[in-house]
Amino acid sequence: MTGIFISLEGPDGSGKSTAAKKIVPQLQQLSTQEVVLTREPGGSAIAEQLRDIILDVHNSAMDARTEALLYAAQRRQHIVDVILPALQANKIVLSDRYIDSSVAYQGAGRQLGMQEICQLNLFATQKLLPQLTLYFDIPPAVGLKRIQQKRAQAADRLEKEQLDFHQRVTAAYQQLIKQDADRIVKIDALQTPDQVVADCLAIISQRFNLGD
Ligand SMILES: Nc1ncnc2c1ncn2[C@@H]1O[C@H](COP(=O)(O)OP(=O)(O)OP(=O)(O)O)[C@@H](O)[C@H]1O
Ligand SMILES: [Mg+2]
Repeated sequence: MTGIFISLEGPDGSGKSTAAKKIVPQLQQLSTQEVVLTREPGGSAIAEQLRDIILDVHNSAMDARTEALLYAAQRRQHIVDVILPALQANKIVLSDRYIDSSVAYQGAGRQLGMQEICQLNLFATQKLLPQLTLYFDIPPAVGLKRIQQKRAQAADRLEKEQLDFHQRVTAAYQQLIKQDADRIVKIDALQTPDQVVADCLAIISQRFNLGD
């Protein structure tokens, strides 16, 4: 495998998607390798169909384990359809969420167990992990407030969860950062959008010797 695989993680409203859109063109300036932006849940035709089921507000009866399996299933399909072909073609893949989201949201948020959800996802991914994960560090209440203030569309099924759910998610992320400090790097997501993007680019460039 010759490409570079980077994921963005963090609570809802931490600014991942906003930053990702700005990172891509700037990263492309620094590298001759093609930069591909993708997202989870979804990222390919079949995975997007699974996304619709997972996030549909009408599916309030969905069992937590069903949800965890659907996330793992969409991730598998996303890898096969998008991530692996891009890495094999020596591209830089930036994924807006990946495996750590499942461990934090389903493992800790839904209280299914971080270890169990990790195992489930290592099966789904055949242990494909990003070389670098940028964690958008923000108190969950701030992220949720940003979403409520600025987003026109209604909240999806996971965003509707109570604050204690989101606090468990954030605590789990902090645990993952401690366990995997080489892979996961914290970004101060309370900064301005431009500063957040600059920090992300600096870390990516340094880690992969880009723009020398
Ligand atoms: N650095 C920032 N400072 C203030 N507001 C921001 C910042 N970055 C993003 N926002 C705003 O916060 C809201 C949420 O941002 P965004 O959708 O990028 O978050 P996200 O991490 O992708 O969330 P989700 O996990 O729900 O997809 C948007 O309205 C966006 O304009
Ligand atoms: Mg987003």
